[in-house]
Amino acid sequence: MLYIDEADIRKIFTMRDAIESDREAFILQSQGFADAPVRTNFNVEGRGITSLMPGYVSKFPRVGIKIVSTYPQNAAKGLPAVPATVLLCDADTGELCAVLDGTELTRMRTGAVSGLATELLSNENAETGALFGTGGQAFTQLEAMLTVRSLKEVRVFDKERSRLDAFMERSAPLAEKFGVAVKAAASSDEAIDNADVITTVTTSALPTFDGRKVKKGAHINAVGVFTPDKRELDEYIVTHADRIFIDNREAVMSEAGDFLIPISEGRFSEERINGELGDLLLGRCCGRKDPAEITLMKTVGFATLDIVIAHKVYEKAAALGCGRKI
Ligand SMILES: NC(=O)c1ccc[n+]([C@@H]2O[C@H](COP(=O)([O-])OP(=O)(O)OC[C@H]3O[C@@H](n4cnc5c(N)ncnc54)[C@H](O)[C@@H]3O)[C@@H](O)[C@H]2O)c1
Repeated sequence: MLYIDEADIRKIFTMRDAIESDREAFILQSQGFADAPVRTNFNVEGRGITSLMPGYVSKFPRVGIKIVSTYPQNAAKGLPAVPATVLLCDADTGELCAVLDGTELTRMRTGAVSGLATELLSNENAETGALFGTGGQAFTQLEAMLTVRSLKEVRVFDKERSRLDAFMERSAPLAEKFGVAVKAAASSDEAIDNADVITTVTTSALPTFDGRKVKKGAHINAVGVFTPDKRELDEYIVTHADRIFIDNREAVMSEAGDFLIPISEGRFSEERINGELGDLLLGRCCGRKDPAEITLMKTVGFATLDIVIAHKVYEKAAALGCGRKI
């Protein structure tokens, strides 16, 4: 069995690799080559949520499972708020063949979902980005945004100033690599002012920005919320976005309060959602039609993304002799 840790993953897999992995995962899912039931969430006595995310991708073929927790208080203990492990099975024997650091894999595949959506939906001449949230997921969200668009400036906002400052330090080498000015924003309004690409990756239960202030032509990635009672997006932007895409209909319609809250209040309907990213990639629906449209992508994540990226990392690690045999 191979153990593949965070450093191994980073050594052999780039953000562009992750974006291409997600692209394939979305297509396989939409073509019916993947079976990924909606995750089972266990609410652990008010401490956090532990989710079990099994999946089968028949094309490879590969069965695996991600065990992922969301423990917001972990940050204070110096631990990731979303720790995860991915287990992969051997197709011929059914035995476990790999254990991967799911924390980094999740960060990469989730950043890559936004990267892919931004590449497909944002205006090509986008210059300004806005990033909400500076936790464990934020770095790869920024990395993905910069991988797909030549932005000149990204404004970052977090309601915790100390976390924002720490992120500015952490992201400085990335900013230098891409030649972009990454600036701390003093407020949510300052962050979205004139922004062409907006990504929210927070643990907020309430909207993170004022939808009325979003620039015409902007593209939004909403990443943070995965429970029906929370929302990072306000009702205005959800009801006024011109085109809306999601990562997985079944999962989003079970978990995304951004839509489920306004639906329960009779102010939004599922028909307003144009399609999954897989539908868009397969040409079953069309993306941006006009540079002035506001596009929105909501992701909650689903197991196919994890199984596909874990499979690709494992195959590459095995071929390169990377990782630790246990
Ligand atoms: N869509 C997916 O596939 C996917 C995958 C992984 C994680 N997530 C979700 O993404 C979220 C973020 O994960 P993380 O590991 O970065 O969490 P984290 O706890 O490390 O960081 C969250 C950050 O959000 C900030 N924040 C909270 N409310 C805010 C607000 N209103 N405005 C600005 N900043 C705010 C917090 O101060 C904190 O710094 C979690 O809810 C997690 O479950 C989604």
